[in-house]
Amino acid sequence: MKFLLVALATVALSATLATSDKVRYDNYTLFRFVPKTKAMVQSLIDLESAPLSGYHFFSPIQGEAQPVDVLISPDHQAEFKAILEENNIESEVLVEDIQKSIDNEGFRPDTLAGSFDWRAYHTLDEIYGWLRSIASSYPDRVTLLYGGSTGQGRDILGVRISHNPANAERIVFIEANIHAREWITSAVATFIINQLIGNTDAEVRHLAESYDFYVFPVFNPDGFVHSHTTNRLWRKTRTQYSIFCYGADPNRNWPYQWMTGGASNQPCSDTYGGPAPLSEPSTLSTSNFIRSIGRNLEAYISLHSYSQMLLLPYGHTTAHLDNYDELMLIGRQAIQDLSRRYGTQYVVGNIAETIYVATGGSMDWVKNEFQVPISYTYELRDLGQNGFILPAEEIIPTGLETLDSLVSIFRSYELLHPRTDSE
Ligand SMILES: *[C@@H]1O[C@H](CO)[C@@H](O)[C@H](O)[C@H]1NC(C)=O
Ligand SMILES: [Zn+2]
Repeated sequence: MKFLLVALATVALSATLATSDKVRYDNYTLFRFVPKTKAMVQSLIDLESAPLSGYHFFSPIQGEAQPVDVLISPDHQAEFKAILEENNIESEVLVEDIQKSIDNEGFRPDTLAGSFDWRAYHTLDEIYGWLRSIASSYPDRVTLLYGGSTGQGRDILGVRISHNPANAERIVFIEANIHAREWITSAVATFIINQLIGNTDAEVRHLAESYDFYVFPVFNPDGFVHSHTTNRLWRKTRTQYSIFCYGADPNRNWPYQWMTGGASNQPCSDTYGGPAPLSEPSTLSTSNFIRSIGRNLEAYISLHSYSQMLLLPYGHTTAHLDNYDELMLIGRQAIQDLSRRYGTQYVVGNIAETIYVATGGSMDWVKNEFQVPISYTYELRDLGQNGFILPAEEIIPTGLETLDSLVSIFRSYELLHPRTDSE
């Protein structure tokens, strides 16, 4: 198959840059197409794990008949189109020039450096500055949490929002941005923190006051910083694993069903599971943090983007394990309630049956280890029109509809499991 040859022939050093430069994606086009044969699927998998190929996969390669979103550099587009034509495959252009999308995404203007709101995307320092400021402004409700540290020595900070000491054994854990480029997820996580502190709506108050919320907006700070300073489309951690390739996929690195499917053993792949479970300092230290509160977890929510899905355990099997039926029931209601505000359509299902087999994810480990009743992974907006580069004006709408679904999830859960007075 030609794909692999193409990849190896073009170890284009033009893609390497002085460390201070930002990678640019001028005229890189995001395509969606459906591979038709096993041979093509295998070639795409090889291409995905080849260094500096000029092909950036935005979706995993799941098999024949499963759509693939791939960003292609301008100098590879002619050959890509020729290969598709030769194989009689249609493709769709999702984004013509992704650099334009990056330029228009809505990173905050320099004049607002250090400030915080939900009309723009923010740096790690700004997010952490805001977490510290709310912890000091609302000491009765908000506590700064130290969840661990990263390979490059950064802190992994979160907050606990607690309105009632009686909730100490009912923890809702929310993590976001374990995948660095999924900026909408940390924006939504901070939006939710803010709502839990201050929204006066009766249902939101009820939710906020019924649990202790532990929210970590950026679970992969090294990757997140790299996505700001150097490469907007960075996904993994920043551990160096080969001459050209850095990082393991921190959501394929957890010690449950590690590397049993849907993860790569190639360090250059975006789904590299790492050399061992918890090889990444960020996953190791946050797993220890989660362990310390594991038996009090009532819910574990992981925020990702994109594709508008509400996913439940597990990623290694389509079997309906644990409380699958209940999570489906609650999830169906939640996506219906999510759609009410703006009509945003989600699908719900087990990871392996809804999208693809993927193992070593944080939610699956937490679910299996602590039998957490409520466990969901969100794939937030959109469906590929902007992909990871969701315009900042969608932060607030995405935050509001996501909060609607969280209210729904816990409303349903309480209906199914009414609290008794002694609790
Ligand atoms: C992108 O493509 C346009 C149209 O072909 C061209 O004029 C422009 O120079 C290209 N930009 C870069 C940075 O290569
Ligand atoms: Zn993700």
